[in-house]
Amino acid sequence: MAVSTSVPVPEFAREILAEARIEGRNLYLPQQLSTADYQKVDRVLEAMGGKWNRRARAHVFPDDPSQIIEAALARGSTPNTDRKVLEAYWATPEPLARHLVAGQHSGIAALPPGARVLEPSAGDGALVRAILATNPGVEVTAVEPDRARAACIDYDPRITIVIDGFEEFAATATSRYAAVVMNPPFALPGRPTVWMDHLHTAWDLLDDGGQLLALAPNGYTYRNHRDYRAMREFITAHGGHEPLPAGAFAASGTDTDTVLLHARRPLHR
Ligand SMILES: C[S@@+](CC[C@H](N)C(=O)[O-])C[C@H]1O[C@@H](n2cnc3c(N)ncnc32)[C@H](O)[C@@H]1O
Repeated sequence: MAVSTSVPVPEFAREILAEARIEGRNLYLPQQLSTADYQKVDRVLEAMGGKWNRRARAHVFPDDPSQIIEAALARGSTPNTDRKVLEAYWATPEPLARHLVAGQHSGIAALPPGARVLEPSAGDGALVRAILATNPGVEVTAVEPDRARAACIDYDPRITIVIDGFEEFAATATSRYAAVVMNPPFALPGRPTVWMDHLHTAWDLLDDGGQLLALAPNGYTYRNHRDYRAMREFITAHGGHEPLPAGAFAASGTDTDTVLLHARRPLHR
């Protein structure tokens, strides 16, 4: 039976789920938990459709739980398990995409014709469309590992679509970009701060003087973990952040609060 209520995922359960191993429909917890902790984690997994199976020694889901776990890690509560929500991936709503690309911190409109812009986790192209609407003269490279999502990006000679993970794309990239505009995955199973990795990888692909515009979780502004502190120092040294209004992603089915990060690569490395 599909369960459609959302339950909170406490911080310790998020850490455990971030380390869980997913193979097909099975989710394997990383360690032996105390009975009390196990019951809490089990409740979270059940709310997402997972059932403990003694023979498999795993929680077994109706299908691959990677996306729903990713969503729960990012938002701190389990999403509803109806099909529509499971397939959600937090596309950037159009007004926010326009704000990101054409707002006061963006230099996209001023880029010269033929300038290269990278969208490293393009989804169905919300940011790609906003980039070209803001500056019809640029060339956009859109990287997206999910073939079905990438297929939603309309053909346009100014867009090069690459079906791949950003990490794999970056490992062999030979071009540099005048700008990177991104709304990366915030968390993936085993990688609770994957957005930071994507942001650093994007930085390395910028031209001298190139611009980074990125959506990031609001935890950027206050979390005390050393990775967050280092990220704040890094962004502040090269730009800054703008808090986005609560509910900016409501149209995409998530209440995750976000910030806009902007940074410019120094002219001389
Ligand atoms: C939060 S959605 C944003 C989509 C799009 N950028 C937008 O703003 O609408 C994140 C996207 O990252 C993609 N993604 C997940 N893992 C990725 C990876 N390793 N490399 C690149 N993209 C990835 C997902 O498939 C999803 O489309």
